[in-house]
Amino acid sequence: MVKLYPSLLSADFLNLQQTLVNLENARVDGVHFDVMDGQFVPNISIGIPILDAVRKATSLPIDVHLMIEKPEDYVKMFADHGADMISVHVEATPHIHRLIERIKAENVKAGVVINPGTPVSSILPVLKMVDYVLVMTVNPGFGGQTFIDNCLEKVSHLSHIKAESNLEFDIEVDGGINDQTIHSVVEAGATMAVAGSYYFNHDDFNVATQTLKG
Ligand code: DX5
Ligand code: ZN
Repeated sequence: MVKLYPSLLSADFLNLQQTLVNLENARVDGVHFDVMDGQFVPNISIGIPILDAVRKATSLPIDVHLMIEKPEDYVKMFADHGADMISVHVEATPHIHRLIERIKAENVKAGVVINPGTPVSSILPVLKMVDYVLVMTVNPGFGGQTFIDNCLEKVSHLSHIKAESNLEFDIEVDGGINDQTIHSVVEAGATMAVAGSYYFNHDDFNVATQTLKG
């Protein structure tokens, strides 16, 4: 069954505490925490103070998605403030190998992310090191965008590499996931799905979880 990580970017920030209780009750696998700096992506979102608040309010795993320049300067900070998993874009650093080593040294799960325009070949050398690969299925920066179909090929490709090489990494998808697109990503081999606007458009999170997890 696909693991589900609702993206807090689309949550009601005035009611985060209750939202997190409701997410736990709706049996999600963790929460996805989108950090944007207005440089790597054309939007600014949430950072350390909100992470502190979320960490205090939930025991759910927190999956921090860094959409920032110079991610190497911030990995330790996010780990120290409660991240359980940290993913970094291969496009954001010339030293992805060192950066993943740095994440693992913090004893959190390490993920590598590829944008829709970035090929799987760019991350082949680090697949043995990572706990998860995040395949962006929209261009990062905003919630509520439309799923980009041709990213599915990358999910299938990674799934084949995983099987052939006997690797264990999770394949996460992020962007435009809803009751339709979830089927194609799971069929292609995704094992973790992020859902923002679709999930939080539901008043009843149990229904949203059931629909996406099947
Ligand atoms: C986009 C973020 C996503 C976003 C997904 O840059 O990385 O996590 O919250 O939102 P939806 O599910 O609405 O596309
Ligand atoms: Zn994200």
